[in-house]
Amino acid sequence: MKIDCALENGRVFVSGSFMDLNIGIADGKIAGLSKLQIDAAQKIDCKGKIIIPGCIDAHVHFRVPGMGHKEDWNSGGRAALAGGITTVLDMPNTKPPTTTVELLEEKRKLVQGDLLCNFGFHFGTTTENLAELENAANENIASFKVFMGSSTGNMLIEDENVLQKIFQIAKAHNKIVSVHAEDEAIIKQNSEQYKSENSVAAHTKIRNSGCELAAIEKALALRGEAGNKLHICHVSSSAGLERIIAEKRAGNLTCEATPHHLFLNDADYGKLGNFAKMNPSLKGAQDNSALLHGIFDGTIDIIATDHAPHTKEEKQKGYWEAPSGVPGAETMLPLMLNAANENRISIERVAELCSEMPAKTFGIKGKGAIEISYDADLCVIDTKKEWVVNGDALQTKCRWSPFEGMKLKGFVEKTFVNGHLAYDNGNFDGSARGREVNFNG
Ligand code: DOR
Ligand code: ZN
Ligand code: ZN
Repeated sequence: MKIDCALENGRVFVSGSFMDLNIGIADGKIAGLSKLQIDAAQKIDCKGKIIIPGCIDAHVHFRVPGMGHKEDWNSGGRAALAGGITTVLDMPNTKPPTTTVELLEEKRKLVQGDLLCNFGFHFGTTTENLAELENAANENIASFKVFMGSSTGNMLIEDENVLQKIFQIAKAHNKIVSVHAEDEAIIKQNSEQYKSENSVAAHTKIRNSGCELAAIEKALALRGEAGNKLHICHVSSSAGLERIIAEKRAGNLTCEATPHHLFLNDADYGKLGNFAKMNPSLKGAQDNSALLHGIFDGTIDIIATDHAPHTKEEKQKGYWEAPSGVPGAETMLPLMLNAANENRISIERVAELCSEMPAKTFGIKGKGAIEISYDADLCVIDTKKEWVVNGDALQTKCRWSPFEGMKLKGFVEKTFVNGHLAYDNGNFDGSARGREVNFNG
């Protein structure tokens, strides 16, 4: 077989550990893994670098259609590649939201030709689209996304009968339900109680741990009845995580943590103001520790960014007006690598959480591992290089980060998408294009 490109002398993540191997790429796929030299048209020296399967970010809000001023497929795609992410799964709370098969098809058309990394879609649920979910079940989608608490967009579902039906439809068609777990009744009650407060610190009081726990409990009870697969997005509290641990043995339950809930907490409000306003809210330092422990003991299955950009102008409004959400695509992997450099987690676990497990959790075919015949989605990393997060230098359209000024040890040097060197040390190959992934792997 003719090998197009060989990545030589790197330490490669294969079957759970790192090995000195050369990688051969042919026709966009991994075609060789060898300690011996691989004969190839092009050779790239990766000495001193580690190579992991490209990260799969299972939770992004790339804002198209309808909110392209915050992010679009091109800027979001560049942010992803610069962060070592080769596949993104986009959330449905766009304008209009992705709640019909027709709208999904329209979104697909908008993405094609614009996005530099691979992509897939979560399908939105509402109080009105139950019949449409039956149709969507035959589509190539990551999950049915449910907002149990209000957030950006109007996709809130409070009616328990509707929730019950969504979980049942998911079970009938072997689909995953992904939940944003915050309890709307508690949000409303606490908003009333703290309505005179005008600072972002109120956000943690309103959307407190109990608010997350109540929604997680409801979701677990619903899945207990329906028996469907459940994925709990962005767990933010020790209380929520404890509840998940208690249920995990029953299987078919996965959960995710975001870098901001791992590495920021309510003590950061003073410095960040509304730039630290997101849903679920930041919690306390002990919640950071609990989440880190959850990474350690395997309770947390995946890391995802919840990349949710808003403009600086929007964030500079008063607490109640400012939208919730933070960008995170370019900082996820470097933050995790930095934590590995600080011996807080192992580098193998970083590769599992950011690449391997997202593919397994959502059943993405041919991705999430460096194995023969898998797609050549690869990330070449300098684990020792330090850099400082600077919003102005980021690719995301919003050009700010809640991690502004942080010095991180761990740097994404090259990102390959389907065998194509799409990102190399700050430079993009504009001709690189992603493809829609398949969710049956
Ligand atoms: O902070 C958030 N921002 N949480 C969400 O659930 C939605 C997201 C957004 O789309 O802005
Ligand atoms: Zn959410
Ligand atoms: Zn989200």
